[in-house]
Amino acid sequence: MEDYKEFLAETLIDERALQTRIAELGAQISADYQEEDLLLICILRGGVMFLTDLMRNISVPHHIDFMAVSSYGAGVRETTGQVRITLDLSSSIYNRNVLLVEDIIDSGHTIATVMELLGTRQPKSLRICTLLDKAERREAEVPIHYIGFTIPNKFVFGYGLDLDEYYRDLPFIGVVDLNKYTPPEE
Ligand code: IMP
Ligand code: MG
Repeated sequence: MEDYKEFLAETLIDERALQTRIAELGAQISADYQEEDLLLICILRGGVMFLTDLMRNISVPHHIDFMAVSSYGAGVRETTGQVRITLDLSSSIYNRNVLLVEDIIDSGHTIATVMELLGTRQPKSLRICTLLDKAERREAEVPIHYIGFTIPNKFVFGYGLDLDEYYRDLPFIGVVDLNKYTPPEE
C-alpha cells in the first residue's frame, strides 16, 4: 500500500478543525433533542469515525444502530441510483427520533434511498447529519439538517472515508491527486 503522502494533494480539513466542528454539531444536536428519545443510525462503513466522535459530544442519552448499503456504480468513485441494503437495522425505529449519521453526501442517491426506506417504518422524526456535503454534485433532492463542512467537488479520503478501502484510519480529510495515486492490484 502506498504511503498517502505520495498522493496527498492537500489537507482539506485537519484534525483540529474536524474535532472543533464535531463538538459544535454535538452541542447543537444535544440542544435539539433534550427530553427526546434519540437513535443515531450510522451507515457503514464510512460513517464510523464520525459516529464515535460525534456521540462523545452528545450529552443527551441516545442509542446507536448500524446499517450498510451498497451501490451499483458506474465506477468505483461514482454512484448511480441503484442502492441495495446489505445490512439492516437491529432495532425498530417506529415512533423514534432517528438521526442518520453519514460521512459524505455526494450525488445524494444513497441517502435518498435510505430515507425513503426508513420513512416507511414510521419514525417520529427522521433527520440527516453529514460530516461532508459535496453540494455541487447533488442529483437527488435530500433535506440535510446538520452539515459539518460543505466541500468542493474533489475526491477526499481519511477520517472514515476510503480510497479503495484503505486510509480510513487517518485523522484528517485529505484530497487525492488522482494522477499520483495507483490503485492496489486486484
Ligand atoms: P452518493 O450516493 O453519491 O451521495 O454517494 C455517497 C457515498 O459515496 C459515500 O457514502 C461514500 O461512500 C462515497 N463517496 C462519495 N464521495 C466520496 C469521496 O470524495 N471520497 C470517498 N468516498 C466518497
Ligand atoms: Mg458512505
